[in-house]
Amino acid sequence: MSELIRLVYASRAVFEPVPVKQGVEPSVGRILMQSRRNNAHASIGGVLYFGDGYFFQALEGERQAVNRAYQRIAADTRHREVTILSLKTVSERFFADWSMKYVPAEEAVKQFIRSRNYQRFEPLKFEEAEAEALIELFHHYDGKHANTGDRAKSKRAGWFGLRRLFAS
Ligand SMILES: Cc1cc2nc3c(=O)[nH]c(=O)nc-3n(C[C@H](O)[C@H](O)[C@H](O)COP(=O)(O)O)c2cc1C
Repeated sequence: MSELIRLVYASRAVFEPVPVKQGVEPSVGRILMQSRRNNAHASIGGVLYFGDGYFFQALEGERQAVNRAYQRIAADTRHREVTILSLKTVSERFFADWSMKYVPAEEAVKQFIRSRNYQRFEPLKFEEAEAEALIELFHHYDGKHANTGDRAKSKRAGWFGLRRLFAS
């Protein structure tokens, strides 16, 4: 088996997001459907976050497979300023499925950006270590309280994830 890598990038969405009370923004939903249809076949996995008009995604898999997928994704006209934040050889994957995990982690991300002294979610400005810390947060994000409308619980879930990260 060839090298396993994790590539993290951020980009700016070109479309105007439709406000949704619950669930996934429709354009993002279409991207997720495509990703889930293709990724098993392409032997890649990872996580996608969408917030404040920005995408933040990790792709995991063998080097060649990730490179191929990244080139296809980077050429997609639904986003621009596609910027690699981190690219590393890893010993194991964070995201076990050959699919694409979606994390509706707005509260956890809010706390994360505050803790890093950012005013808003601007992932194109992230340094490598920040990008990796956020991916690690998404790795632990269980989504149990996501989309239930229970903001207090989802806040706590995000907070525990952060505490784990900052304790080490
Ligand atoms: C932010 C973003 C993330 C994407 N992630 C993936 C992905 O993980 N896997 C994938 O196959 N396509 C992904 N796409 C879509 C690809 O760019 C491309 O449209 C798609 O792979 C084409 O597949 P199709 O010809 O089967 O529709 C993504 C697009 C965007 C804008």
